Amino acid sequence: MSREMQLFKVCKGVLTGLQARNIHVTPAAFAAVAETKKAPRNKTFAVYRWNPDEPDKKPYMQEYTIDLNTCGPMVLDALIKIKNDVDTTLTFRRSCREGICGSCAMNIGGVNTLACISKIDASSGKATKIYPLPHMYVVKDLVPDMNNFYRQYKSIQPWLQRKDSKQKQTGGALQQDIQSIEERQRLDGLYECILCACCSTACPSYWWNGEKYLGPAVLMQAYRWIIDPKDAATAQRLDNLRDPFSVYRCHTIMNCTKTCPKGLNPGRAIAEIKKLLGGVAKKEEAKAVA
Ligand code: SF4
Ligand code: SF4
Ligand code: FES
Repeated sequence: MSREMQLFKVCKGVLTGLQARNIHVTPAAFAAVAETKKAPRNKTFAVYRWNPDEPDKKPYMQEYTIDLNTCGPMVLDALIKIKNDVDTTLTFRRSCREGICGSCAMNIGGVNTLACISKIDASSGKATKIYPLPHMYVVKDLVPDMNNFYRQYKSIQPWLQRKDSKQKQTGGALQQDIQSIEERQRLDGLYECILCACCSTACPSYWWNGEKYLGPAVLMQAYRWIIDPKDAATAQRLDNLRDPFSVYRCHTIMNCTKTCPKGLNPGRAIAEIKKLLGGVAKKEEAKAVA
């Protein structure tokens, strides 16, 4: 009996419950049958390993070979496959698996990027090398210590600051502080940053002065708040950056912009901050919107 006919009979109630259960084929079973038919497509990943619980053991590269037929197309899929099926001790961060949370940032094949939107290079016979983000302290395996990065982010006060709230009670209702479409568009290319730190950890200046130089990711967010037409703390925000290290360690090498997996341009944002600090550019003030 064909599968269509079996399903038809189940729908019509012709088969008994037991007979119907006997013809049930799960998607996993279908996938398993399909997999057995394909020739294996083996791919090797060489992954950085270091365990803080074994302090005497130096970091090393561990190779894992998996069949790409049994795994999704992205590097994060391969890492999850390795962790699930081969080595549960492999440690890495991930959450959204769609380039939104920034937690799977790592160095893949020599490039800082997000594992979840980075396609596995199936064409190369060579092992793909995977390291944690460069020049960061390592918590374990592919997990970098982000404390300094987040401390720096906090230092730029990444929230809206207003002197006089325009939110007034009018007739019992709160009145919105309306922004024009043009003013809102000034934040395009800035607000999309997911703080993955790919850019900062690709920046040679950040490698050598990471404690004092804020780095491209944090500086782009500083710029995002400096030019926000609704924000009133512009002068204070700029003064906080007025020292030899916070901004001026940027030498416009542009590794940051080249590596950003979201296609943003932190190098340009830093150049704009320098113009504001040097007084060659001025923040455009907000216009009243009716
Ligand atoms: S600018 Fe790009 S690379 Fe840098 S933190 Fe934001 S999203 Fe990541
Ligand atoms: S442009 Fe500035 S922030 Fe970007 S990589 Fe170069 S030195 Fe670093
Ligand atoms: S898992 Fe969220 S960006 Fe990759």
